[in-house]
Amino acid sequence: MEITFLLNGESVHLAGVSPTVTLLDWLREDRGLTGTKEGCNEGDCGACTVMVRDAEGARALNACILFLPQLHGKSVTTVEGLAAPDGTLHPVQQAMIDCHGSQCGFCTPGFVMSMAVAHLNGDQHHDDALAGNLCRCTGYAPIIRAARSAAKQPVPEHLARPFILPEKLSGGLAAGERGADSPPHDHHAPETADELAELYARHPNATLVAGATDVGLWVTKQLRDLPEVIFLNRCRDLQTFEETDLGLRIGAGVTMDRVLDLLRDRHPSYAEMIRRYGSVQVRAAATIGGNIANGSPIGDNPPALIALGATLHLRYRDTRREMPIEDFYLDYGRQDRHPGEFVEAVTIPAQPDRLRVYKLSKRFDQDISAVCGAFSITVEDGRLARARIAFGGMAGIPKRASAVEAAITGKPWSEETLVAAWDAWQEDFTPLSDMRASAEYRLEAARNMLTRCLLEDLGAPVNVLEVRA
Ligand SMILES: Cc1cc2nc3c(=O)[nH]c(=O)nc-3n(C[C@H](O)[C@H](O)[C@H](O)COP(=O)(O)OP(=O)(O)OC[C@H]3O[C@@H](n4cnc5c(N)ncnc54)[C@H](O)[C@@H]3O)c2cc1C
Ligand code: FES
Ligand code: FES
Repeated sequence: MEITFLLNGESVHLAGVSPTVTLLDWLREDRGLTGTKEGCNEGDCGACTVMVRDAEGARALNACILFLPQLHGKSVTTVEGLAAPDGTLHPVQQAMIDCHGSQCGFCTPGFVMSMAVAHLNGDQHHDDALAGNLCRCTGYAPIIRAARSAAKQPVPEHLARPFILPEKLSGGLAAGERGADSPPHDHHAPETADELAELYARHPNATLVAGATDVGLWVTKQLRDLPEVIFLNRCRDLQTFEETDLGLRIGAGVTMDRVLDLLRDRHPSYAEMIRRYGSVQVRAAATIGGNIANGSPIGDNPPALIALGATLHLRYRDTRREMPIEDFYLDYGRQDRHPGEFVEAVTIPAQPDRLRVYKLSKRFDQDISAVCGAFSITVEDGRLARARIAFGGMAGIPKRASAVEAAITGKPWSEETLVAAWDAWQEDFTPLSDMRASAEYRLEAARNMLTRCLLEDLGAPVNVLEVRA
């Protein structure tokens, strides 16, 4: 596999690299570009943030969980390439100085890269844009002041230029050696879903890598060797979405930042939950297909998709299967997916009932759910005509609250009905206690979420954070 990309404006051509070398390691160890820092090495702190551009625009991404093959055809800017060629600092760099936004400086390159991407995209939601960057010593007020101040400055000319595909550039640097002497890896980067289907059928033991926000950690934290890898990021036809007779069909390769945009008007409560899904950097990499396929009991999309009655599309070679997404999850760590079969898309029905999604986590931003509840409720003449309720964090799989649904459907939509259904919760769920929450807390929180849903329906004042436009 050959990889070509732009690094700070310079064309880079790599061949023979190990497919699981991260951009962060390569930048620091092979290129000596140590401005990009390693903090957590798991996508949490933002110290390794770089700007990645392609024909679709600019994104902030965490270099620590980004494998080199994911960069093919893109342009990478690190903190070393942020200032203008004549040395003039980028407006966000200057503003960080002027506003005293840096003390020890360890987090600063990551912050300025996130700020520069937001600046380029005209994104003025500074809290959201910087939620994936942690600073332990300066405090966030001066940093946010710097972001606000820089927003008044124009985009520097060297960044305002349109993106040029590196394939069109001639020349390039010497072939990369990194990892060339590591054990041989078999890795592929199909260009279409058809190619992927054929390859995966022939290599059913290969690890599929979409955004690598899970798989990246297998390498950086669990130190796993992945002998056979198939990268999905070049399959453009998995990154599309369309309105069909069944509803909104979203390709498995659509990233969570785009899913947020797609759902903002259709399902504002779901979109609001996605705003709290990881960080800007994580949402720009993570795909909806990866989140569904990994089968995590605390993944945030499955409860909402189950409540919406979404259909999952699986594919093996040219054979396609469809199933209600709730049927995909069989048991902890076990999904209804055959060897060589992959998630191709998910469809959200066209006329869903009203949906509310609540994510409960210890931190508001950039945290995994302790409990995530999704409620699709239809009330007719004061009675619950239909209810589809699903939870993450309450069992070994994302799971529907069937007993609760049965206990409340057809009854008046009232607190009395919810109190009468109290015991049904234990039929549905026997949650675990872990570091995120105790079993009792989880059960109580789940019941309270349904009460919150009712109160919101009745117009009672509930602290709801609006999705920002
Ligand atoms: C800092 C951080 C914060 C996070 N926050 C959240 C959060 O708030 N909520 C949440 O739900 N998750 C969160 N995650 C987890 C992660 O982002 C998600 O699970 C993500 O959606 C995985 O998608 P991906 O494209 O990165 O998958 P990858 O890491 O590439 O793959 C994940 C798994 O899915 C498989 N896979 C990928 N695509 C397909 C496909 N099309 N068909 C079949 N198998 C496939 C892979 O082989 C692998 O087993 C977080 C992760 C990090 C690092
Ligand atoms: S080093 Fe912390 S997010 Fe990459
Ligand atoms: S300035 Fe020290 S961690 Fe942010």
